[in-house]
Amino acid sequence: MDMIDPFGRTVSYLRVSVTDRCDFRCTYCMAEDMTFLPKRDLLSLEELDRVCTVFVEKGVKKLRLTGGEPLVRKNVMHLVRQLSRHLKSGALEELTLTTNGSQLQRFAGELADAGVKRINVSLDTLDAEKFHAVTRWGNLDKVLQGIDAAQAAGLKIKINAVALKGFNDGEIPGMLRWAHARGMDLTLIETMPMGEIDEDRTDQYLPLSLLRADLEREFTLSDIPFRTGGPARYVDVKETGGRLGFITPMTHNFCESCNRVRLTCTGTLYMCLGQEDAADLRAPLRASEANDALSAAIDEAIGRKPKGHDFVIDRRTSRPAVSRHMSVTGG
Ligand code: GTP
Ligand code: 5AD
Ligand code: SF4
Repeated sequence: MDMIDPFGRTVSYLRVSVTDRCDFRCTYCMAEDMTFLPKRDLLSLEELDRVCTVFVEKGVKKLRLTGGEPLVRKNVMHLVRQLSRHLKSGALEELTLTTNGSQLQRFAGELADAGVKRINVSLDTLDAEKFHAVTRWGNLDKVLQGIDAAQAAGLKIKINAVALKGFNDGEIPGMLRWAHARGMDLTLIETMPMGEIDEDRTDQYLPLSLLRADLEREFTLSDIPFRTGGPARYVDVKETGGRLGFITPMTHNFCESCNRVRLTCTGTLYMCLGQEDAADLRAPLRASEANDALSAAIDEAIGRKPKGHDFVIDRRTSRPAVSRHMSVTGG
């Protein structure tokens, strides 16, 4: 019994933000001074497991833990291990996470042991000073050591880089060679106007078509049908023998093939990254030990999944398209 939305799209991918907190403060993602959700509002790990399990029973095949930084949630590995039973039963095809890499040295082995096969690591630059500037609080060496540890543990890694004008655009060829030499895919992302940050997004925004044209002077890129169930469109890069992905919410909206919804750490379900409309799953979750009300609330929410986002980056409309930060719903 699959979950099908009003536009005929099957929802098979749940992204779960297990915490809105992060040990970095990336300039395109957060303001330096952030107010986070009070800890008492968080779903417990058992409650997160229960909601995820109901989603798996209703047809979700891919579960991704995000944040904030998922690995800063206390005892998050307990949740990963619990959820991995759905991999073993065959109900779930993929259990994965998107991380900033800062805690990977500590958790890589446990993640692999729990059945995680591949993870996405957010990394926007390979220059230590620039890395510190964009993340405000991050340390590049620690992330690189984390990536090494993850590879040593047998995890496949995709690097995600948000394309930022005048910041990392000149560095993408180098990042591509670096990632592909290590057997990692690289995916570029257009920045989206979510949440108040300290900078003007118009200054940061870079359409990926421009970056692609630049790359094509140096590399031979050919479109390939490879898909992961995520929004990226991939090309093969002849010179490096690796894959490069493009996530283009601003220039080539991919909403028509959207297969995902997002759960926050307080039990709110967002049916679209770029819309405010949401459903509260915490009340039905806590109202009863049986899952009927929760399941009905999920059905009701899927029944009003919007057609897509209305993101615009424009100096004249300087307000973000949605007021919550990416870290609340994890991208
Ligand atoms: P793969 O499984 O490797 O394909 O990962 P993914 O792209 O599904 O997940 P990841 O966490 O790597 O997502 C990368 C970024 O893509 C997110 O942080 C968002 O910025 C963007 N993204 C993912 N899903 C959506 C979506 O539904 N809408 C929009 N606008 N952006 C999305
Ligand atoms: N636009 C696009 N991507 C963003 N991310 C965080 N904020 C934004 C934004 N405003 C990315 C991070 C990470 C992923 C979870 O979301 O770099 O790769
Ligand atoms: Fe943290 Fe990721 Fe946001 Fe950076 S982009 S502040 S690593 S949640």
